[in-house]
Amino acid sequence: MGLRNVGRNKITTGEYLLHPLLQSLPTETSMKAPPLGSDAPRQPLATTPMTGDQPGSAPFQLPPLSYGYSDLEPVIDTETMKLHHDHHHRAYVKGVNEALEKYPEWHGLSIEAVLARAAELPADIRKTVHNMGGGHANHDFFWRVLAANSGALQGELQKALTREFGSFDEFRTRFEAAGTKHFGSGWAMLVADPQADGKLQIISLPNQDTPIDLGKYALLSCDLWEHAYYLKYHDRRAEWLKSWWEIVNWDYVAERFANLPRKKTH
Ligand SMILES: [Fe+2]
Repeated sequence: MGLRNVGRNKITTGEYLLHPLLQSLPTETSMKAPPLGSDAPRQPLATTPMTGDQPGSAPFQLPPLSYGYSDLEPVIDTETMKLHHDHHHRAYVKGVNEALEKYPEWHGLSIEAVLARAAELPADIRKTVHNMGGGHANHDFFWRVLAANSGALQGELQKALTREFGSFDEFRTRFEAAGTKHFGSGWAMLVADPQADGKLQIISLPNQDTPIDLGKYALLSCDLWEHAYYLKYHDRRAEWLKSWWEIVNWDYVAERFANLPRKKTH
């Protein structure tokens, strides 16, 4: 496929939220919450722009945190937060930018647009972009699902979690189990399946794979890489997962759930 087909003018707002196979999926609602991977400047949720030709397009920049390094203490210690954001996330941004540098036809796309079209990437950078771009997208999303004042789970999301898992406690238990049992580095996530009327699902992803690879819509994620917790929790990943609930930004997660795309049934 000619690379010229991947130009900026092909992108429309929100088109690449999902796997390429799902790009034509009609939606019942317009998206308001920023999608996974969007590194548009932090703004109030209701006015946060979608991806596409937003300022957060390649070459990418390290998105700023919306909270201070110490604001998520004691769940995330200050040193871990600095290293995680300023070094690890920065390395992913640098890596994906370097890979795309000699292919300017891919510039101007959001990170999720790039990942959604990974199969069209030049073979010599495809794996690097998958790993480094996935790391950028996953971390951008991870920072967004965290907050010092996390709000409370309520409303439709709470009802949906109870419907799917029996109770919130059961959901939490299963999420922690998925994260604890996951072998090696990766992510534990709550995702919705737009092809199944938004059905909720707990998944774990290896390394820097993203829900975009699966055509899923991310609602919540916990970083299982040791760099996310080792300084404080050492090898006690289960303890990290248990503590992490205290800093989940439920308002943000609920906003994403309220605006998730669904396949039209009529
Ligand atoms: Fe990480």
